[in-house]
Amino acid sequence: MSTTTDKTSARDHDVQVMPERRDLHFLPPADRISDWHVAGPNVTQFMNALSLLFPAGERMFIDAVRAYRDDIPDPDLKKAATAFIGQEAMHSREHIEYNELMAQAGLPAHKLDKFVWDLLDVIKKNTPKSTPLAATIALEHYTALMGDMLLRHPEQLAGSQEDYERMWRWHALEEVEHKAVAYDVYEKCIGRGPRNWLERSGAMIVATGIFWPVVFSFYWQMSRADPKCRAEGWRGHLKVLDFTVGRQGYLRRLVPEFLGYFKYSFHPWQQNNAHLLAELDALVDDAETAYATHH
Ligand SMILES: [Fe+2]
Ligand SMILES: [Fe+2]
Repeated sequence: MSTTTDKTSARDHDVQVMPERRDLHFLPPADRISDWHVAGPNVTQFMNALSLLFPAGERMFIDAVRAYRDDIPDPDLKKAATAFIGQEAMHSREHIEYNELMAQAGLPAHKLDKFVWDLLDVIKKNTPKSTPLAATIALEHYTALMGDMLLRHPEQLAGSQEDYERMWRWHALEEVEHKAVAYDVYEKCIGRGPRNWLERSGAMIVATGIFWPVVFSFYWQMSRADPKCRAEGWRGHLKVLDFTVGRQGYLRRLVPEFLGYFKYSFHPWQQNNAHLLAELDALVDDAETAYATHH
């Protein structure tokens, strides 16, 4: 991670972070796939449901940025775009392996994963070239906010099975590290005028209307298929509500920063949380040591 200054812009988001592709393996233990989270099986399946969105989602992000990579005028941003593609490819590879553990445990992972691929295919085939990139910057705002929340509130995962915890922290860190890349590609290659504001805001409204129903429907289907969740009954669902929108409210608390996206002058680095990335080197060491020890 290195910090440079974008001299072409006089805006207040001048902190620029250069992301770096890290080829890490996590291989979390298969026998904990349905109860790795400290808060129990239901929160585990909620996080697992999120993981099911990544392979198809990250493929869309990669394709959307790659479609404009040759048009990027600024060499630093081109380099960042390449690193962005590399990071998302690594996330996808690790989440495919993780999601496979769900399938092996008898959970409907393949069916739900296929639903996302089909859905994003329909969007890609029926919209102009800029739409997938607009959708990407909208969803990257979500991954950046959720990553930031996870890093600023380590109690969200503390005490969970450590390989799962480490994998989620790695993903959160890299989502923060590359949070502005797709956004900058959009601004540099497509524009930053009123029409672009309308497109990115519209994409956020549509993405929000699709994303959360899909996440909660996936959670529901996963929890119905998991004997541990069925044994928890309604108490288990209440734990997920507490975790997301209730007392803990890790999603509820994202609302103010989420709304910042609709400001005309929005830029992801207006929230400068780059200090969180100081943890990256230690996490990489831990992940490499754990992988070498277990395998
Ligand atoms: Fe990712
Ligand atoms: Fe991302």
